Amino acid sequence: DASLALKAIARNTPLKSALLQTPAVYAALWPAARRFITGETRKAGIETAKTLTSLGYGIFLAYAGENTGTEQACQAAMEELLALSQAVETASLPKETTISFDLSHIGLSVSQRLARDHFFRLVQETKERGICLMVDMEESDKLEAILEVYQQGAAHYPHVGITLAAHLYRTEQDLEALMHLPGKIRLVKGAYQEPEERAMKRGEALDERFLSLIERAVSAQHPLSIATHDQHLLQELERRKWLAAPQVEVEMLYGVRPDLLKQMKQAGYQTRLYLPYGTEWYLYLCHRLAEYPPNIYQALADCVQP
Ligand code: FDA
Repeated sequence: DASLALKAIARNTPLKSALLQTPAVYAALWPAARRFITGETRKAGIETAKTLTSLGYGIFLAYAGENTGTEQACQAAMEELLALSQAVETASLPKETTISFDLSHIGLSVSQRLARDHFFRLVQETKERGICLMVDMEESDKLEAILEVYQQGAAHYPHVGITLAAHLYRTEQDLEALMHLPGKIRLVKGAYQEPEERAMKRGEALDERFLSLIERAVSAQHPLSIATHDQHLLQELERRKWLAAPQVEVEMLYGVRPDLLKQMKQAGYQTRLYLPYGTEWYLYLCHRLAEYPPNIYQALADCVQP
């Protein structure tokens, strides 16, 4: 289907290089990406964060990128994240402003040791600056390694959270284990295509599962970010009064359902926006198109507009 085809295209590195090195293709795709990416520079991310903070939203900033293949490139990504944490401080963004990142962006695709060393450094630097961190969740093949690095590096740090994907069957156990640590948990449905023995597909059963995971974290009063654009699900959470809990927030991606997030904010709930920036926006764009194929038509319209 369209979603599978898009994910395959997104992962095809030679195709990606060929596409992005063709100026006409790059210029055509960028308007579609602009809907979901604040800009290519850190400055663009910070400026958007300032504007949205002044409107009352909490912020997650993300430097787009994953699966970095060399130690040198991981080091460069680390430098950018450290510069970002400094920029958040300099811009006087609120203390709960969070930097969200993939461990494979800063080392996991090279070695677990490199990811751990970089992660430890980030944890220390952000702690000193009073900024928070959130580890994104990646494909299930990397899950064990991500959890290991997180548990080693974040066991005592409430400012460092982790994302769990509800579609994986094992997430119930992972949630139980992670709630012993102080960090925030972000629950998402799951963006990656997974083997059917590991994960369920979108549908009512997944929504039920998502609800029961949320219920577990809410009843344990664990800091929780519910990251979804699913209006029906949010209405159900509202009906059950779970969104009003002080440790719960609703988080959405920049450019996806801003109307719905605004509505949540006006209803008095804590709301957060995930703001990506950077030149590696191609894969991020493919994810957004793949998880909601009607976006493909919008993207085509964006691309052909003069
Ligand atoms: P679902 O996909 O069921 O869609 C419900 C409705 O939401 C749709 O009918 C549509 O109205 C709207 N919608 C959803 N996606 C849309 C889109 N792209 N454009 C327009 N409308 C859309 N995943 C992961 O595997 N690891 C991670 O670390 C993260 N991190 C993350 C952070 C944040 C803040 C969010 C919001 C999401 C993630 N995700 C993620 C992605 C997540 O797993 C999931 O793929 C998307 O949120 C889409 O699923 P929904 O829960 O929104 O619902």
